[in-house]
Parts: sequence; C-alpha cells; structure tokens
Amino acid sequence: MLYTLYFLLLVGVLSLLSYSPAERQIHYEQYHEHDQQQQPLMMDDTSTSWLSSTQSSLQQIIAWSWRSWTGRRHPVFERPKRYGYFLHITDLHIDEEYIPGTTVDSDCHRFPTSSDSGPVAGLLGTPGEKCDAPVELAEKTLEYIAREWRHKIDFVVWTGDNSRHDWDKKYRPRKRKNIYHLNERVMSMMQKAFWPTARDPRHIPLVPTLGNNDVYPHNTIGDAHQDGDLLDYYARLWQTWIPTDQRATFRRGGYFAVNVGPRLRVLSLNTMYFYHKNDAVKDCDAPGTPGYQQIQWFEHELLKARSAHVRVYVMGHVPPSPKHYRRSCFQEYIRVASQFPDVLKGHFFGHLNMDHFLLLDAREEQDDLRHVKSNHYHNDTTALMEDANDEEGDVHVTRNVGKYVNWLRDMYEAVDPIDHKRASFHRMPVVAVQVAPSVLPVYYPAIRIYRYEIHDDDDRAQCRHQDKQPHGTLMEYDQYFSNITQWELDLDTDLDEAKLDYHFEYNSREEYDLEDLTIASYYEFAKRLIDDEQDQLWLKYCRNMFVQSLNDDFSP
Ligand SMILES: *[C@@H]1O[C@H](CO)[C@@H](O)[C@H](O)[C@H]1NC(C)=O
Ligand SMILES: *[C@@H]1O[C@H](CO)[C@@H](O)[C@H](O)[C@H]1NC(C)=O
Repeated sequence: MLYTLYFLLLVGVLSLLSYSPAERQIHYEQYHEHDQQQQPLMMDDTSTSWLSSTQSSLQQIIAWSWRSWTGRRHPVFERPKRYGYFLHITDLHIDEEYIPGTTVDSDCHRFPTSSDSGPVAGLLGTPGEKCDAPVELAEKTLEYIAREWRHKIDFVVWTGDNSRHDWDKKYRPRKRKNIYHLNERVMSMMQKAFWPTARDPRHIPLVPTLGNNDVYPHNTIGDAHQDGDLLDYYARLWQTWIPTDQRATFRRGGYFAVNVGPRLRVLSLNTMYFYHKNDAVKDCDAPGTPGYQQIQWFEHELLKARSAHVRVYVMGHVPPSPKHYRRSCFQEYIRVASQFPDVLKGHFFGHLNMDHFLLLDAREEQDDLRHVKSNHYHNDTTALMEDANDEEGDVHVTRNVGKYVNWLRDMYEAVDPIDHKRASFHRMPVVAVQVAPSVLPVYYPAIRIYRYEIHDDDDRAQCRHQDKQPHGTLMEYDQYFSNITQWELDLDTDLDEAKLDYHFEYNSREEYDLEDLTIASYYEFAKRLIDDEQDQLWLKYCRNMFVQSLNDDFSP
C-alpha cells in the first residue's frame, strides 16, 4: 500500500514538472468576420490538444487516487475550479418532412406549382417564416457543439420541444409515433455529442425536460394515471440522464432532480402541469392535482438542498409568467422561488424563441400586467411568436411581437424597488428568469453558454473569500448564433459535408454592463432599460431579443 502511495507521489512530482500554466488559460478567438469589440468568455480549459489531454487524464487519475486514499483534494492536480460553464440549448423542432426549395406556405413541405410565388425553404431553415427546422440544422448544431464546447462545459440544460409543430395538419398530421420518433433522433444526436470520448472521458450531465410539442395531443398531458405511457416512454428514452433514484419521481410527474457538480443540482420541471393551455390538468391550489404535487416537490427539494448546502438551478420548457401559467400555478411558483434566494441561483426556460429575461415581483398581484394598455412605440413589428405554437387556426401564427415587447417593458417598469434591508437571506421578493432563444430559426438559430461561480469549500467559509460570490452564482453568459442565410450563400461543398459554425453575438457583461446575473443586477438592469432617455439600451436589447434578425424594425 505504501509503495503505491510512493508511486503516486512520484508520478505526481513528474507531472508537476511538465505542468505548464500557460496552457491552462486560453482565450478563445471569436469567429466573427466583422469588427467586434466584445470578447467571448475566458475559459478555463484543460484539454486543448491531445498532448495536454493525455496529461490531464493522467492528472485526473492521480487526483482521483489521491482523493480515494486521503479523502482530500490533490493539492496540485485537483485545483479548485474557479468557474464552471454550461450550455443552454432549446427548441430544436426538427421536421423530417422539411424539404429545401418547398414553399413557406406549405410549411416547407411541398414544392411550388407554377402559380406559387412566395418565399421558399432554405437549406438549414427559413428564418422569419412559419416552418420547422430541417434535421440537418440540429445535426450540424450538435456537431458544432461537440467540436467547440463539449470539453469546455460541465453540464447541459436542454429545455424541450424537439419535435416539429403540427402546422400541416391536413397533409402531414402529426401523430404520437412521429413525436416519439423525432425525440429519438434528437436524443441520439445528443448522445453522440456528449458521450464520453478519449479526449474527454467525463460523463457530462444533460438535463432534458418535456416541451408542449413533445407530448400528445399537442399541449396536453395529464397525471400518471392518464398519461403513464408517455411518462414511461420518456423515462426510458432519457434513462441515461435521469438518475436511478429519480426514475420513480419522473414516472409519477415528469420532473426530477440531478446533481450536475459538487453541491450543484438541477431541478427539471414538467411545466406542462402549469401551462394554461394544458386542458388535462387543473389549477395548482387544489391538493391532488399534478401541478400542486409538483409545487410541493419543488419546495421540498429546495428545503433539502438548503440543509445540504447545495445550490439549485431550475429549468423547464414554458417560462413562469402570468401570460403562460395558470394563475395559481404562477403564484405558487413565485411564492416558492422567492423564499429560496440563498439556494436557487437560476431559472432557465425556452418556448418563446426570443432572447430575454422576466422579472417577476412576488409582492403583488401581477395579474393586471396582462391587461396593461401600452402606448410605447414598438407596435408594428410582426413576426413569429409563442402563439406560432397555436394550432387553432392560422390567425395566431403571425403576431405582433411589439405587443409582447411592450408587455415586457411594462413588467420591468412595474417591479418595485428591492428593499435590501428587508430582503433577507431567505427571502427575495423578485425572481429573475432567463429565457433563451431557440435553435429553431424563428429568427436565427442560437445557443447560450453560462459561466458560474464555484466554491470548493462550503459557503460557511464565505467570509474568507471576499472577492467571491456564493457558490453557483451566475456570473455572465455568451450568446451565440448562426447566420444560416449567409452560410447558404457561402456554401461551396455538399450540404452533408459542410460544417456549420455559430458566431459570438454578445456577452451579458459587455453588452449590458451586467456585473453578474443575480436578481439585484437584473433589477438594476431592468430599470436602466426603462430609464434610458435615448432608448439606445432598449433598442440594443430588442435587437438581441430577435437575434439580430429584426434590426430594421428596431432602428431609431
Ligand atoms: C405605432 O406607433 C406610432 C407612434 O406612436 C404611430 O404613429 C403608429 O400609427 C403606430 N402603429 C400602429 C400599427 O399602431
Ligand atoms: C446574415 O446574412 C445576411 C446575408 O448575407 C445578411 O444580409 C445579414 O445582415 C446577416 N445578419 C447578421 C445578423 O449577421
């Protein structure tokens, strides 16, 4: 036993000699072709080449052995990581019926006849039009992520809606088996992208959740008695990613908890039980309803996490908002969320395709927000919105996004100041929710990378790290998008061969002066958005909201 220890020490010293700190901190060049003052996040990377990755695997083995022998962190090879990174990807909406060159009027399914003259489907998608995404877009996006991000991130937040919409009801009605099949295809792409490799042998936790287009019928899922088969199906499909001890929970309600790092846990919610369009469930205030049970579970998980000093991120498909949740479900969500600011460090959602945040005030009825009449000037921009998800008639398909933008503005305006003296460690009256833009090119396809704070020690030692935020605090994000229009123009090889790259769009710190992504910072940002006389910040925010695709509409 002692010899083994000596051996490990020897290997340790040898590797120490070959350790070169310069490799540790690299700066990732941006992929932008035009001038760009902003810089993507600095990454702490350990595996930039084969050589360094072999070295780092060896270090991992040594660190692991050290830890199992001594019960402590190896002083050199298991450096406490200062920051962690993760990916948020959402709304892939793949459509096997999508054919480039077909008409937008046919949902990108049928070729034009001589009388058709409208826009046609692009190779990787049709930004701004009512079409789903070709399978190739999802494939190339995940290949890009595997190439560029896989080895740099700790886990993946994946917020649902993998399957196409049911827009082409007459000719290509969507059946349950289609939804399952499309989910299987996306699942296997995810597995391929995040499976351990020789270069990076880690098991990267990937956290899935159900979208309103992943259930059948559309928007509708009842409790386990009613929809046990669907829950069982997804429990099997996602079994690699749902911890064994959580499978029963998932089969009961479609939600689960998973550890994604030391003292860091993600709660994946089944937001379908809160969604106002889901007719199979009722409000969240009656004991026994699936929504009520989920809220109970949510609260219980947060209590558990608090006593174990674990930090929590919560994620789901449909964001908590008075526009999308049943009233009681929304109220319950913010009631619980506002009671755990010390535990709950982020809320990640999709569904709306637009890049934005919600600032929810737990102190008052937000109900009237729904009816606020607004006279702001962003009133004539038409594009696809959440209600593109609506099947009931085409009238809802193109919508005035200006209305939503105004609603957001009113929301930011309505939030009362946070009295930090009264807001306690265990209570924060405001909740900040991240809504990430989709891969489905409603605007341009987009993904997001977050940086978060890591404390190796327990936070009880917090006072010793004055410069550090509490463990799990979100620090900043980089927003990436791909200009698939440009990509198609530049294409000079086979579609199958051609790689797709995403480009750095902006960084939250640089773009918005957001020091970090805490509630206090978001509150201050919301007020700056409103107060800016020239509206320059607001316009910037709107351009980013639509992934630079509606810049003309939002020019001064
Ligand atoms: C939008 O607002 C501008 C300025 O207030 C106004 O002139 C215009 O008529 C409005 N457009 C619509 C469609 O309401
Ligand atoms: C995307 O590419 C098109 C075609 O070149 C160009 O007109 C457009 O400005 C580009 N948009 C962005 C945001 O890069």
